[in-house]
Amino acid sequence: MGIRRRTLSRLAFLFTFVFVVRMLFFQPSSSPKSKSGGVEIKEHNFIERATRPDRSLNVHRHPFLQARIGRDETPDMFSELIENGLQDYWERFQLPYIVNKDTANMDAQHVLGAIDQLLSLNGWVGHLCPTLVRPFGQNKRDNDYDDLVRQDHLYYIAIVIHSADHFLVDQLAVIVQMVKRLGTNNLFVSMLDYDSNDSTETLVDLCEAVLTLLGVPFRIRRIQAMTEDPSAAYYPLEEATMRNLALEPLHELHQRRKIQFSRVVWLKGFTCPNDILETIKISFANEAAMVCGMDWAEHNGFFIFSDRWRTRDIEGDQFRQSKSSSKSDAVPPRDNQGALRYAQHLPFQVFCCESGTHVVDPSQSYYRGVAYRAGTDFHNVSRAESAPVRDPDAPCLDSSQAWFCRDLWIHSALQGMNEVDKANNAAGMRRRDAVDVAAFDPLMERRDAPVKGRDNVKVQIGAEEEEVNDAAADTRKKNVHKQDPDANAGSDYDAMPIEDGGEVVPPPEVGRLSIPNAVYRPARILVNPRCPTTYAGVSHTKLARDLFGEGEDETPLSGKFLLEDWEGAPESFVCQEQRLTGGRKATKTQRRLGFSIHDELQALMREKSNR
Ligand SMILES: *[C@@H]1O[C@H](CO)[C@@H](O)[C@H](O)[C@H]1NC(C)=O
Ligand SMILES: *[C@@H]1O[C@H](CO)[C@@H](O)[C@H](O)[C@H]1NC(C)=O
Repeated sequence: MGIRRRTLSRLAFLFTFVFVVRMLFFQPSSSPKSKSGGVEIKEHNFIERATRPDRSLNVHRHPFLQARIGRDETPDMFSELIENGLQDYWERFQLPYIVNKDTANMDAQHVLGAIDQLLSLNGWVGHLCPTLVRPFGQNKRDNDYDDLVRQDHLYYIAIVIHSADHFLVDQLAVIVQMVKRLGTNNLFVSMLDYDSNDSTETLVDLCEAVLTLLGVPFRIRRIQAMTEDPSAAYYPLEEATMRNLALEPLHELHQRRKIQFSRVVWLKGFTCPNDILETIKISFANEAAMVCGMDWAEHNGFFIFSDRWRTRDIEGDQFRQSKSSSKSDAVPPRDNQGALRYAQHLPFQVFCCESGTHVVDPSQSYYRGVAYRAGTDFHNVSRAESAPVRDPDAPCLDSSQAWFCRDLWIHSALQGMNEVDKANNAAGMRRRDAVDVAAFDPLMERRDAPVKGRDNVKVQIGAEEEEVNDAAADTRKKNVHKQDPDANAGSDYDAMPIEDGGEVVPPPEVGRLSIPNAVYRPARILVNPRCPTTYAGVSHTKLARDLFGEGEDETPLSGKFLLEDWEGAPESFVCQEQRLTGGRKATKTQRRLGFSIHDELQALMREKSNR
């Protein structure tokens, strides 16, 4: 009851706030805008090409750094009420008192005060963050991030909102916290609203107002759904499109103003600001292409790891749908090294991840031309066509993030080869063939070292399969529950339900590769288990205790961040694919598919030479 009342009073406060903001920002068109002299939103859609050497993200000098595109103007049940209220307030309480430009500052003060009040609530759950348990005393050492702040990097924060208004205030609070730490001119915020039909629109107005007042550069954009009928949509394609659009300003700023961001932070669900800062630190320390948090959703009174569609451990296996309190033999990553490091709360290498909030290095991805994509030979069931015939080893029709991870591996290998080529050319050596690469790749020093535990698994593929199936049966026994109607709360909404065989991995259809993946430079993709992303209905205090125990471990973290042994890509992975249109929940099927970097590189070369 108490919680509901609190939520209601917060909502009431929020609406009052939004009302005030709308009043100040989006005055009725009849009102004399130019006279107000206050803050006011102009429409800027494009980033101007730099004519001067100034490359700063200063919104006062470059107003086009704050843009709103495709505002939803469709009337709703409150439109008329708000319109009348605005007009009335403007005419009776504002207009008579506007004497000169100076009074406008007071309006801005008014709103800034309201923002402070709003953000002192830190959204719905954010205020808990400083009290939550984290290993290595993370929360006690706020100055841990001073060095990060001093380095003065530029960060690009990307958010895709698809009818998920319940996160937006928390996410805004997180952004404001990051702005406070990292500086107004060090962040760019890109929000993409994909045809939301809930109160996202209003909350996005709020975000726009707050970011404008704080002087944070942003682009907020709303787009229509790709298909009129949601059931005719192909979700991986929607995902890819949304993300590429959210990255458009990144590319524009790079091409037109030569502004280069150090890291892109994809905010999803709710993540505590310190956890994000730590993940950024881990990303820099390891020169990682991507570092993900872990994604936990409430499920029948427990918290379960919730991203089994997009996450694969370094052996290509699916993560377990483990509980947050699981013992060391049943933790989310199945591979030995990953499980070991997970148990110590240390970052571990994976083949692919997304798991809520994640940090991407654009210089190892987007700036190299890697974009989000999806398979194209899916079956559109809205059309009266028969399903396309697909080879048993046709590319996996999985999530756009899974495609992105494979692209990271391939481009990392390519970069390694190019560097070796350059070095060889400089030294007047012959051109290498693929196998020689490792011998010259400076990042592959430990290639000769025995690969711990992995070779056994690889050779006895039958045994591995046994183990996986055992685990699956095990999980099935423990999870004799029906589909949770609240599954939308976490990323597992997109995964294949266990009841449909979501954990059963078919036998690998591949032999050993002639040119092993291990000779290529690995993609540095990590999971930071100390960075949980959560959803509505999660008790953060309980989750933190489950994951990290009671007392705070005082050992400083220094040095432990670093992963020294980087594995090559797995030679096969669990492909969970969506072959049909039908939105997020379309049927998925599963197979194990080979992954040969050598073959992928050759395909890439062929594609390039055909163009
Ligand atoms: C809003 O969109 C969701 C799916 O995104 C859909 O299930 C729901 O019916 C829509 N509501 C309205 C009022 O259109
Ligand atoms: C599937 O076909 C329908 C009908 O032709 C079309 O409207 C829709 O856009 C198609 N879906 C995709 C993802 O191409």
